[in-house]
Amino acid sequence: MSKPLFVKKNKNIKSPLNYIGGKYRLLNQIMPLFPRKIDTFIDLFAGGCNVGINIKANKIIFNDNLTYLIELFQIFKNSNTTTIINHIENRIDEFKLSKTNEKGYKEFRNFYNQHKITLDLFVLIAYSFNHQIRFNNSHEFNNPFGKNRSSFNDTMKYNLINFILKLQKNDNEFIDNSFENFDFSQLTKNDFVYCDPPYLFSPPFLWNKL
Ligand SMILES: C[S@@+](CC[C@H](N)C(=O)[O-])C[C@H]1O[C@@H](n2cnc3c(N)ncnc32)[C@H](O)[C@@H]1O
Repeated sequence: MSKPLFVKKNKNIKSPLNYIGGKYRLLNQIMPLFPRKIDTFIDLFAGGCNVGINIKANKIIFNDNLTYLIELFQIFKNSNTTTIINHIENRIDEFKLSKTNEKGYKEFRNFYNQHKITLDLFVLIAYSFNHQIRFNNSHEFNNPFGKNRSSFNDTMKYNLINFILKLQKNDNEFIDNSFENFDFSQLTKNDFVYCDPPYLFSPPFLWNKL
């Protein structure tokens, strides 16, 4: 039986990006530590947006220095859900993407690197190794194929639809800036900045030590 398409009320939203270092599983530990009332919440190293998307605040600002990622979130925010899903499923058909078709993945990766159509990045991530987002110095996506493991499955589709619906409902903004260039000057005591920068050790290791 396929998954119901809409998330239950009061259940946390999971980023469709399966982000490395994503905090979805830690939300129930992190969120009680935040102030009860927040005017603007800044997710300064937004990544998969697992934290900001689940925050109750008047406004949420998602910041990340990975421009391609921020552009993808802006598409999610500003496009019709059916149009997004159709685009993804058409690409999967066109390049015959599957858990085993490495040739199709590589052809599609070349196509993406030539055309850089923002939504195609999501399709690539869906089929790439560990769903990682990796670009080389020439701005080419170079993550290998996620053989036998990665695909745009029902769970990812469910996470994507619910993520888009939540993004489109809330007041939020996306900024592609390095954290040190972020303009903090307008913030007041009612705002909150959450920082989850990249690190060397795995998240469970760090949190067990705290
Ligand atoms: C650990 S991840 C955040 C995961 C996120 N909290 C989640 O739950 O999905 C760290 C993010 O910081 C971003 N990043 C790295 N250097 C940055 C910088 N100088 N300024 C802003 N963001 C940066 C990376 O692109 C990555 O997306």
